[in-house]
Amino acid sequence: MAPTPTPADKFTFGLWTIGWNAQDPFGSATRGPVDAVDAIHKLSELGAYGMTFHDDDLFPFGCSDADRRAAIDALKKACDETGMTIPMITTNTFSHPVFKDGGVTSNDRDVRRFTIRKILRNIDLAAELGAKTFVMWGGREGAEYDFSKDIRVALERYREAANVFGAYVLEKGYDLKFAIEPKPNEPRGDILLPTVGHALGFIETLDNPELVGLNPEVGHEQMAGLNFTAGIAQALYQGKLFHIDLNGQRGIKYDQDLVFGHGDLINAFSLVDLLENGGPEGGQAYTGPRHFDYKPSRTEDIDGVWASAEANMRMYLLLKERAAAFRADPEVQEAIEATRQHELAQTTLAEGESVADLLADTSAYEDFDADAYFDAKGFGFVRLQQLAVEHLMGAR
Ligand code: GCO
Ligand code: MN
Ligand code: MN
Repeated sequence: MAPTPTPADKFTFGLWTIGWNAQDPFGSATRGPVDAVDAIHKLSELGAYGMTFHDDDLFPFGCSDADRRAAIDALKKACDETGMTIPMITTNTFSHPVFKDGGVTSNDRDVRRFTIRKILRNIDLAAELGAKTFVMWGGREGAEYDFSKDIRVALERYREAANVFGAYVLEKGYDLKFAIEPKPNEPRGDILLPTVGHALGFIETLDNPELVGLNPEVGHEQMAGLNFTAGIAQALYQGKLFHIDLNGQRGIKYDQDLVFGHGDLINAFSLVDLLENGGPEGGQAYTGPRHFDYKPSRTEDIDGVWASAEANMRMYLLLKERAAAFRADPEVQEAIEATRQHELAQTTLAEGESVADLLADTSAYEDFDADAYFDAKGFGFVRLQQLAVEHLMGAR
């Protein structure tokens, strides 16, 4: 039995996830829309902590100010009634045809100016709702053809827009940070800032890099064949894990948005272990919302939607339990010790040792016995991995 989710677990869902009507490029919707207020109540019943949304999920693109205000006020009322929070919001700069060549990097300057205005308006809404994170997923920022734009110039426009948003937040005094969400492709053939690494490099070029971090998504890194846990570790190392999108993906193919853990389960296990036990003194390495960005499958009716929402939370909690058991197992501790991970924490040069000292140390090179490594001095990683998988399977 997995523990029951509670708001303390900080599980959040995008309104566009449980609200997806299952329309895809090949066929029409298989479900009706889900009302935002109903979603807040249902997610609250299931033990979630909050909900997130794009502007256009809550009120239609181009709607009147009165309709927009009514939708916002209804959402706020539902949050007040349930205690649910809106810790993150994001902007839809991809659905309307105006964005077909991107928003902030469209070749069309009028589109870029419109996009910046749409995002600024949504930043005001984030502040109004008390959201602390503003996600920027640039799904349409990219190209299909190498000759359609100079990527260096497009990145310069991306940078210009991010600087405008940062300056705006500072000027307004909002307690809000930005989280860029990388994705390699889909809907564009190639998307700008395709991976965690690309985005980390880009952030350092901004006027206020401290305002901008990452919202990495499991499936997006895996679509690029990358190890998600390793990418998250680097984001943490660089102090840039501002938010996270949890879901499941099976290999390099279209963005599947499966339930968390329904893709690469072993990588999901190491991820939860890192988030929950990878911090200082073995505590949490990340304390923000555990945000699910999945899609209830096209085959499901509305009951299946809520069952799959619950499945995400159950998967996370089960993995968290398994990770705690793994860490508490003395045999695992001994196996970790045998891998010499503690030695990796030692600096390679001793404190105060100069390069000249290293060059003078004959034991480091001239007398070093590299041949002793032939068929000896194994690291025992496989034994540790087997223990991990046995814990994951509930076999220990
Ligand atoms: C996708 C993305 C989106 C973003 C969302 C938030 O592949 O469609 O993951 O779901 O997370 O737009 O900005
Ligand atoms: Mn996705
Ligand atoms: Mn996402």
